[in-house]
Amino acid sequence: MAELANKRIVLGLTGGIACYKVAEFLRRAQDEGVTVDVVMTDAATRFITPVTMQALSGRPVFLDTWDNRVPNNMAHINLTRGADAIVVAPASTDFLAKLAHGMADDLLSTLCLAKGLCPLLVAPAMNREMWLHPATQRNVALLKSDGVTLLGPAEGDQACGETGSGRMLEPLELLEELIAFFQPKRLAGKRIVVTAGPTSEDIDPVRVITNRSSGKMGYAIARAAREAGADVVLISGPTALPPPFGMPCIAVRSARQMHTAVMNEVQAADIFISVAAVADWHVANASTHKLKKQAGQAPALEFAPNPDILAEVAAMPNGPWCVGFAAETDKLREHAQAKRQRKGVPLLVGNLAQMAMDADDTALVLFDDKGEESLPAQPKLQAARQLVQAIAARLPRADAP
Ligand code: CTP
Repeated sequence: MAELANKRIVLGLTGGIACYKVAEFLRRAQDEGVTVDVVMTDAATRFITPVTMQALSGRPVFLDTWDNRVPNNMAHINLTRGADAIVVAPASTDFLAKLAHGMADDLLSTLCLAKGLCPLLVAPAMNREMWLHPATQRNVALLKSDGVTLLGPAEGDQACGETGSGRMLEPLELLEELIAFFQPKRLAGKRIVVTAGPTSEDIDPVRVITNRSSGKMGYAIARAAREAGADVVLISGPTALPPPFGMPCIAVRSARQMHTAVMNEVQAADIFISVAAVADWHVANASTHKLKKQAGQAPALEFAPNPDILAEVAAMPNGPWCVGFAAETDKLREHAQAKRQRKGVPLLVGNLAQMAMDADDTALVLFDDKGEESLPAQPKLQAARQLVQAIAARLPRADAP
């Protein structure tokens, strides 16, 4: 799935050691089908050569306002015409100050002023003291009020040996932000709690009962909801997936832990999307020490029911708008509509378990009080984006974006 097919961006590099990461960002962005015109400030060329950026982008690199390779000598105008975005990465303290104050003393700052409606995204990269300095924070506030989109910065170890806020986002995080930028913001400002993955119920300290949920669908929905502008909290059972970027991820193991985490988080939520494959029972006589094998005998496990998290949230007075999931092996339509009514949720998303488990593609069917709507078989992230649009379209008027 080429996420940035038919898009062209102007990639501006300013002076910072994070320039080396931008070479990788360019490559990974090209994998998604984007065309990139690179513009570098003089300071950026001290950190990475124009030759590197030209070889990677496969296009001429622009350094100078007086570039006579451009027929009308107006690179500062031509480059952004028809471009889908300008991405300045890394964006130095000095460059943010220039942008905030409308200075135009080199090609990149000039084209940022002459850009017209072309969106401008900046990825700050600097030492933590520079980032926290009131002058930088003032400039950042000005840029935001001018409609500039900030990508990061992140916290962590810095090239100078200090630790704090001001690191540029990693190349793949930058790419995810760029892809998200182009998604419609149908859930802007909404607070959404998503559960994902399996739960795991202890038999003893080393043995568990679990199910085959991979977590892929729930993680894709959390990402799609964030792309749509929501503040997302993900509550996840044990999966092999990396925590998704840009949202808190609360790790739980058992259904009862998931229940506690959900009840804490949904108090402030507008929407609850229950994708997790929650175990219906836990082992009531779980052992605190490892069970030892006894010849010819199997342990007698006793089960007790787990709370039905979705049904409980759906029954909360003034609770969030709820979306349930059902993976069924047969009679999808019958089971799904019955389950929707039993759980008391306005929308229940069904799929066939034999197609969904651990797969990268899925075919969702949406069940609500009007009937059903089938989405095509497609990659889970695409399906998640369609579902997010369907949720936005179904929100009651007061909740609608
Ligand atoms: N769910 C939940 N808590 C549970 C069981 C399920 O919140 N203890 C949620 C799931 O996250 C999903 C929906 O309820 O959104 C349906 O889950 P499913 O396991 O299909 O339904 P069950 O009620 O467990 O019915 P059954 O297992 O008999 O199909």
